[in-house]
Amino acid sequence: MEHTISITSQAERKVTDTKSLPFGKIPTEHMFIAEYKNGQWQNAQVVPFHDLTLSPLALCLHYGQTVFEGMKAFVMEDGRINIFRMDKHYDRFTKSLFRMCMPAVPQKLFNDAIHKLVKLDADWVPREDDGSLYIRTFMIATEDRIGVKISDEYLFMVVCSPAFQYYAQPLRVKIETNFVRAAEGGTGTAKCGGNYGGAFYPTQLAREAGYDQVLWTDSIHNEFIEESGTMNAMFFIDNTLITPMLSGTILDGVTRDSLLAIAREKGMNVEERQISYEELIRAFEAGKRVEAFGAGTAAVVAPIEVIAIGHKEYKCYIEPDAMMYQLQKDLLNIRTGLAPDTHKWNFII
Ligand SMILES: Cc1ncc(COP(=O)(O)O)c(C=O)c1O
Repeated sequence: MEHTISITSQAERKVTDTKSLPFGKIPTEHMFIAEYKNGQWQNAQVVPFHDLTLSPLALCLHYGQTVFEGMKAFVMEDGRINIFRMDKHYDRFTKSLFRMCMPAVPQKLFNDAIHKLVKLDADWVPREDDGSLYIRTFMIATEDRIGVKISDEYLFMVVCSPAFQYYAQPLRVKIETNFVRAAEGGTGTAKCGGNYGGAFYPTQLAREAGYDQVLWTDSIHNEFIEESGTMNAMFFIDNTLITPMLSGTILDGVTRDSLLAIAREKGMNVEERQISYEELIRAFEAGKRVEAFGAGTAAVVAPIEVIAIGHKEYKCYIEPDAMMYQLQKDLLNIRTGLAPDTHKWNFII
């Protein structure tokens, strides 16, 4: 079914100096919203950014039927705007929605919503080298009923916010062996709100102990590394790029997938497999060069400087010639049009 998206524009708020603000603090001028009722998507609109009115009985407020995606738009070298890997974000959004018993959004509606919104708010896409427009698509259950049930009504929305460097400094992370983020058969591969709510407490404890993030381990042995915060975990040990395979408990990261493809094309050794913290200890203690980094849309490549395992801290290699920076640069070059987009990752508006 074709969906017409109506646009109500209003040039009230001007682009402000957003660089000094924390990530995601300032929304752009407009947003997209569509309603799901009676088994259909309807009232698709791009409208001035505004607050929502929700019943206190709205099911999303009680039972966690919320799913989101995060992607980015970049200004390319030639001034055009590129939305990176919209298709892969759509696929993951659809899988997350399925896992949470929420209705799919037709791909054309998803693409058109983002396209129209980013085009209208194009002045908000930062022109600076380290800037991008973060695009948040999300869905919430809105049926008003207090009983536990799958909602029959939803809102699908898109909002945007200018984004700059996510972490100012290399990270200090702690291997987490008490708390788990996800277990097999759970919702670890879905980008649903509950996964993040459950991660706050252990992350807060890690912050109090002087770390930026935790590196989650598996729920059975508390030994194999999973991922970190909003990033997939990646390592270079002896020039081999190692990252946990998609086991069903970690997110299928778009940045992870992109960096793996780039690394393989560069002829690097790539291994998607289990990696235990014991293996890391052995590598550190053998004096091997260990690079560790988080890969995610918000932070792109976030170098890890220190990994705490038990009571011991290990130092990773973060010098400018580290291999992770080569991957980061190659990815940026594709996004900005400096390198050919052989995979058709760029959606240019
Ligand atoms: C839990 C988690 N893992 C990994 C990632 C990285 O995924 P992506 O590269 O698609 O942003 C994210 C961010 O979306 C995340 O929230």
